[in-house]
Amino acid sequence: MHHRGLPLTLLILMFINTSEETCTSRPHITAAEGEPFYLQYCPPTSEHENETDSIKWYKTNGSRGKVELGSSSSPRITLHGYVLEFWPVELDDSGRYTFQMGNYSYDWTLNVIGRSKDSCFTEKQIISKTVEVKKSLQVFCEHNYYQKVVNRTSLYKNCEKIENNKDPFLKKNAEFRDQGYYTCVFFLPHNGKLFNVTKTFKITVIKDRSNINPVLLGPKLTYVKVELGKDVQLNCSALLNEKDVVYWNFWRANGSDPNVHEEEGTRIKTSEGKWHASKILRIENVNEHNLHFSYNCTVASEGGIDTRSFILLKKEDLVDIPGYVFTRGMIIAVLILVAVVCLVTVGVIYRVDVALFYRHFIGRDETLTDGKTYDAFVSYLKECQPEHGAEHTFAVETLPRVLERHFGYKLCIFERDVVPGGAVADEIHSLIEKSRRLIIVLSKSYMSNEVRYELESGLHEALVERKIKIILIEFTPVSDFSFLPQSLRLLKSHRILKWKADTSLSYNSRFWKNLLYLMPAKTAKPCRDESEVFPVLSQS
Ligand SMILES: *[C@@H]1O[C@H](CO)[C@@H](O)[C@H](O)[C@H]1NC(C)=O
Ligand SMILES: *[C@@H]1O[C@H](CO)[C@@H](O)[C@H](O)[C@H]1NC(C)=O
Ligand SMILES: *[C@@H]1O[C@H](CO)[C@@H](O)[C@H](O)[C@H]1NC(C)=O
Ligand SMILES: *[C@@H]1O[C@H](CO)[C@@H](O)[C@H](O)[C@H]1NC(C)=O
Ligand SMILES: *[C@@H]1O[C@H](CO)[C@@H](O)[C@H](O)[C@H]1NC(C)=O
Repeated sequence: MHHRGLPLTLLILMFINTSEETCTSRPHITAAEGEPFYLQYCPPTSEHENETDSIKWYKTNGSRGKVELGSSSSPRITLHGYVLEFWPVELDDSGRYTFQMGNYSYDWTLNVIGRSKDSCFTEKQIISKTVEVKKSLQVFCEHNYYQKVVNRTSLYKNCEKIENNKDPFLKKNAEFRDQGYYTCVFFLPHNGKLFNVTKTFKITVIKDRSNINPVLLGPKLTYVKVELGKDVQLNCSALLNEKDVVYWNFWRANGSDPNVHEEEGTRIKTSEGKWHASKILRIENVNEHNLHFSYNCTVASEGGIDTRSFILLKKEDLVDIPGYVFTRGMIIAVLILVAVVCLVTVGVIYRVDVALFYRHFIGRDETLTDGKTYDAFVSYLKECQPEHGAEHTFAVETLPRVLERHFGYKLCIFERDVVPGGAVADEIHSLIEKSRRLIIVLSKSYMSNEVRYELESGLHEALVERKIKIILIEFTPVSDFSFLPQSLRLLKSHRILKWKADTSLSYNSRFWKNLLYLMPAKTAKPCRDESEVFPVLSQS
């Protein structure tokens, strides 16, 4: 099958390529003093193979300039084809090397470093490898270039020999203690002498990436309030890997308390393939001895351990108000508060009704001893122009019908009660003095009418001398009270009653209640109307 064959071919090609990769493509190279060393040119294509005769090697040295290298240059140097070999390389071999073939040339810079006296390898020539714990750790001692001439190879770990044969290798499952420096020493016989080349791996063993760091749930330190004599369960739960363990430490130097038991744990697999484990520590019949002792729960894994502590404290009944008492108290307090607020609100809204009821209940009467004749003097715009007809009807018919015939008050209405003739201003003044209230029916026309001046000045006096209380009835809506004399403007807003022709008709309406409230208290019973329901007023 074609699509199966292709990857295999690729794999083989890659294998061949890497295994034959012995040429030196890096331009900067480090070598260790005393070891055999080589430089091999990497031919760009195979077409130059025929030109090997023209190959030349040069070394460029600071003082001596560019010098061609030959077999006679040094007994340690051998040249064959693309390769320049050193048996071995020494410190003064450092410098720039040039390979030249026809028009092609390639340069390397070689740096030879001294051999460490204490170590079997050179720090600068280390190959680092990282292996996860429990995964395969392999160290093969193979040298791409010298393998054919290697007589023997030794493998050292941290410079201590661990194996010595032709092809030593290490293959195992990594453990944390496998971490270290692994050095292969290849022994190479050459011209009757035995040389050695080293290759060092630095192996780092890391935690399994698929393993999590197990965690115990909850705070590092938990205080548990207990009552002496009761049982208590401490629940320790953790998120962990399959092989991790959870356990309680509750041992004292002299053994454990007899009433402390560690129960079998439970484990549930999570969707991510981890485990949720919990383990209960049961302390029966808690006594003083169990208090203030640190019961520790620990989860242990390869990566380390995590611990949580639980300390039992005695529940102080006398200091703490039990929760349910506190809650009950709060509820009662809130209910009382709500009730008070409701009562006050109702009282404010219905204060007029409450006052009228109270007045009626105790049978109070303010009118018996003050020597006044009238309960109220009614003042309104008196010009009987057609547009003021409604006011006139209200003042002369509606007010007396309700206040006099229904509620038993006695009103003084100038037009009705005063015989024409005499000094009007004086007359008004004396009538007001004989009245307990002054009812002023306000309307736009009243205020723009300057005929009322005399009344207003008399009014003023009455107000200033505080002999009479004033009730304002806003018969038609008034937005601007600046027309009123100063003293009237100071009236509190509740003394201004608004007449609403559509809602104020019934005796039980707010308008009449408010008016009664402002009128003096009186017990005299009226001669009752035939009907209790106030007749609908006609507006004409
Ligand atoms: C490798 O060779 C050096 C000298 O070139 C020598 O000092 C060292 O001991 C040799 N190492 C071993 C393991 O024989
Ligand atoms: C190499 O040389 C041989 C004869 O010596 C010749 O046949 C061949 O074509 C040459 N190859 C290249 C790539 O020049
Ligand atoms: C290694 O070299 C020694 C002499 O230098 C020789 O006796 C021995 O047989 C060689 N070993 C191998 C495996 O080539
Ligand atoms: C302990 O706690 C864990 C997690 O908080 C919970 O799943 C488990 O049911 C608890 N065990 C007991 C016995 O209460
Ligand atoms: C629990 O841990 C605390 C602090 O980590 C330590 O002081 C205590 O001795 C431990 N208790 C036990 C029973 O190991």
